[in-house]
Amino acid sequence: MENLSDLLHRRRSIRKYQDSALTDEEIKQLMAAPLMAPSSKRCTPWEFVLVRDEVKREALGACRAANSAFVAKAPLVVVIIADTEKTDVWVEDASIAASYLQLQVEEAGLGSCWVQLRNRQTATGQSSEDYVRELLGIPAKYGVLCMVAIGRKAEEKKPFDDERLQWNKLHCDTFTPAAEQA
Ligand SMILES: Cc1cc2nc3c(=O)[nH]c(=O)nc-3n(C[C@H](O)[C@H](O)[C@H](O)COP(=O)(O)O)c2cc1C
Repeated sequence: MENLSDLLHRRRSIRKYQDSALTDEEIKQLMAAPLMAPSSKRCTPWEFVLVRDEVKREALGACRAANSAFVAKAPLVVVIIADTEKTDVWVEDASIAASYLQLQVEEAGLGSCWVQLRNRQTATGQSSEDYVRELLGIPAKYGVLCMVAIGRKAEEKKPFDDERLQWNKLHCDTFTPAAEQA
């Protein structure tokens, strides 16, 4: 198992994928990670819709006016939703699950990218959440947070450079406005 720090440095958003399907075994291994994610009061409000169908992936690519078309080329798109009637912190719970998934993807040597759906619109102004609910038959009580596009990497990105760590985001004992920190 690799060191968590190395994994965190290496994970970057990957938006280009090889034209090669993921096996059922690979997918099962990936999906174990979000199922281990912590959630408020352990209410596990999240659900994951795994989309491999080519026509549906193409349609998912049109869920936003921009910055989503590339998902059509990802062999697997995981749509992350959560039951809003179970908890008022479903956004937090689902976000943690999405992050767990992305880290597991990286550990498996694959690439992924988060595509935001909540509070976003299609090119015609429809809510991206409603668009995806209709496309995938998701009941209205589920909030639709995001989708994570996953595949074998067809682009390489540099690992995170420690020089870019924003240490000025840390505040000791009391908040210090940015100008005073310099
Ligand atoms: C909440 C959230 C929403 C994002 N939405 C999108 C998106 O809609 N489309 C996209 O291509 N990337 C999206 N990203 C990926 C970010 O653009 C990316 O994480 C950021 O630029 C940093 O790059 P890195 O992931 O390679 O470190 C999103 C990331 C987060 C955390």
